[in-house]
Amino acid sequence: MKKAVIVFLITLAVIACNQSTDLTYTEDIAPILYKNCTSCHRSGGAAPFSLTTYAQVNRKKNTILGVTQSGLMPPWPADRNYSHFIGERYLTDAAKQKIKDWIEGGAPEGDTSLLPELPQYDTYSYIGKPDTTVWFDSILISGNSRDKFFIATLPITLSEKKYVRAMEFLPNENNLVHHMNGRLLNYEPDKKANILNGQRILNLEVAESEYVAQFNALQLTNDDGTRPSQINSAANYLPGVQAQLYPEGIGGFTMNKKSILIADDIHFGPIPQDKWDHSRVNIFFSNTPPKRPINEVMLGTNGASKIIPPLVIPPGKITKHASFLKIPEDISILTINPHMHLLGKSFKAYALTPSQDSIRLISIPKWDFRWQYFYTFPKMLKIPAGSVIYVEAEFDNTAENQNNPYNPPQEIRERYEFGGAGMRTTDEMLQFIITWLPYQEGDEDVSLEVE
Ligand code: HEC
Repeated sequence: MKKAVIVFLITLAVIACNQSTDLTYTEDIAPILYKNCTSCHRSGGAAPFSLTTYAQVNRKKNTILGVTQSGLMPPWPADRNYSHFIGERYLTDAAKQKIKDWIEGGAPEGDTSLLPELPQYDTYSYIGKPDTTVWFDSILISGNSRDKFFIATLPITLSEKKYVRAMEFLPNENNLVHHMNGRLLNYEPDKKANILNGQRILNLEVAESEYVAQFNALQLTNDDGTRPSQINSAANYLPGVQAQLYPEGIGGFTMNKKSILIADDIHFGPIPQDKWDHSRVNIFFSNTPPKRPINEVMLGTNGASKIIPPLVIPPGKITKHASFLKIPEDISILTINPHMHLLGKSFKAYALTPSQDSIRLISIPKWDFRWQYFYTFPKMLKIPAGSVIYVEAEFDNTAENQNNPYNPPQEIRERYEFGGAGMRTTDEMLQFIITWLPYQEGDEDVSLEVE
């Protein structure tokens, strides 16, 4: 009897101890969440639910504990011990510990008068006041709880040829759009009579036999069937990621009087009920021509270097592939973008100089299809002439890969049938896009941060 009482008392003491913490939401936790989470987790934000009030945070505390301790949130798949980029999202060890101790200590709210002010968020642009805004046609996203992929086109007519400093894509329901990659087709005035004739939307779930006809119905070529010139990555979107804006004088492009922005592709996450997406594009013009227009080179699928061994992934297997490219001149790298689909497992890229020094670019130990950032270096990164850039990637086509689109697994490969256009998510790709400038003396000291 006595023993039982003691055990009971000890248990009580342990519970009491577990539930007591000096940490409070208003003083200790809100500042961490405002800094690291609420840019996405707010009403109108990129995440599916808000974490801007104590009640919301308290309701979700168990999942918050899980995702903050595992590193899943805030989302930043690149290894910060390997290389650094602008806008890295991470919690310090101290912040992680605070969240843990606070939740395990009973998650008390504290003195509400001490709650700091929620940061101000502008819903209509993250980077300033646009010169003009244009809208994609609305897209109906059916509520069958499956991922949706579309190609969408947006014909744009300007009064004259203009210089563009940045193009910003913003979905109206931004927690619906999971990513968008936009390239701009620039038409010469006499090469295409009408840019408005084509279809505006291609649902990528279309049967394979109809795909080519549907793609052609977008009418993207010049009237004589040739291809117009194109600006790759004119606008890209990922939840919580700002449009690419470099310091004045770097980047930017020319936009002809007639152009079509093609979202190739746009990915919507699963939803249980039908909804319409109506996405906009903010355009920021510049009066001066781009001083140092940026170049892009792509390794891998459809790119400048082949994949070794070829990207064919047998069912039930984990495979390794590489790609490499020699850089003939001194270049300065600004931004990099690794790209794979659902079977991606890990990704690494680095350069080896002619003297065999290695320059780290990026390592993503645990690939996450959902977070395909464009990673911008804090300062331009010089790669000397004669260096070789290496990409190494692993793909997981086993049933253990939760993102495997097939059950049981099937052979998955990259496909060239459609000239590479509109490759499906259920096919595989391995790409590494590098945005670069010809090197100029002192580039390595040029900061790419824009306030
Ligand atoms: C870049 C935008 C962004 C930031 C920053 C961000 N989240 Fe998220 N979060 C999301 C999105 C989007 C989802 C939905 C998951 C998905 O679609 O894959 C999500 C999901 C979650 C979930 C649910 C996970 C699950 O398994 O159900 C929790 C909990 C969460 N976030 C907490 C946080 C916390 C805490 C922070 C800050 C430490 C944070 N998030 C920062 C975008 C973000």
